[in-house]
Amino acid sequence: MNVTKAVIPAAGLGTRVLPATKSLPKEMIPIVDKPAIQYIVEEAVEAGIKDILIITNRGKELIEDHFDRSPELEQKLLNSQKDKTLEEISNISKLANIFFIRQKETKGLGHAVNCARSFIGNEPFAVMYGDDVIIGKDPAIAQLIRAHNEFGKTILGVNKVLPEDILKYSSLKVSPIRDNLFSCTDMIEKPSPDKVMSLYSILGRCVLTPDIFDILDNTLPGAGGEIQLTDAIRVLANTKGTVAVDFTGKRYDMGSKLGIMKASVEVALNHPGIGEDFKKYLSELKY
Ligand code: UTP
Repeated sequence: MNVTKAVIPAAGLGTRVLPATKSLPKEMIPIVDKPAIQYIVEEAVEAGIKDILIITNRGKELIEDHFDRSPELEQKLLNSQKDKTLEEISNISKLANIFFIRQKETKGLGHAVNCARSFIGNEPFAVMYGDDVIIGKDPAIAQLIRAHNEFGKTILGVNKVLPEDILKYSSLKVSPIRDNLFSCTDMIEKPSPDKVMSLYSILGRCVLTPDIFDILDNTLPGAGGEIQLTDAIRVLANTKGTVAVDFTGKRYDMGSKLGIMKASVEVALNHPGIGEDFKKYLSELKY
């Protein structure tokens, strides 16, 4: 079955980026001139996804406003003949069918994904974490959808992380299938050093089969007291098996201060409007 729907969980509290995220959703932090979540929506659209559900909570209205029309602004741009900007701005609201639902309590990523049950129904669907921006020629979620079309299973977007970082992420038990594809039969969220299975970790993207919802209903709080998506996917990995795709593209963790700065610098260096000036500025910067 085709993957036509994506869920973007964006209801986290963003405590690692305080105080900025006290009132600004981390998903709205800009990378040069576009908020993080717009890069993610554009990635989904490029991969052929038509319907997107964004999971929000109190204080995230800015996300809804961003994907809405802005008649006054559009009129002003029209009057001042800023045609290119007008097109760019009005296109944001036409990118896809975007829906919103609130996660009423911040009980973890697994709980957030479970809020999408009635939107998804009985189809496979993409999950794209609202604070993970991945930039590359071949959209990361498209790479996972192709693997889903081939294997018909739950697909996990993975990359290797540094040994010192794996304890903060998930760790997967993998064996090679071919090229960048692995079979994955077990995993653990935030492992203690003796429980690390590999340096491959789920990073921001997966394609899930709808049987995940019944599993999530029975998933108890895990690491950090949160209902962890990894714990639910583990049940599928143990029973039906899952496939991991070591995706191409550069991932930026917009939930961390360093990740935000890396994204800003690298995107600015390649930006058609300011790239050359920014390179010159950096080459003259004394530090
Ligand atoms: P994170 O654990 O990175 O987000 O969740 P967080 O809770 O905002 O992080 P801290 O506070 O800085 O540690 C990964 C993704 O899951 C979403 C987040 O918005 C992020 O996109 N999430 C997390 C939810 O939607 N709901 C939750 O209850 C938790």
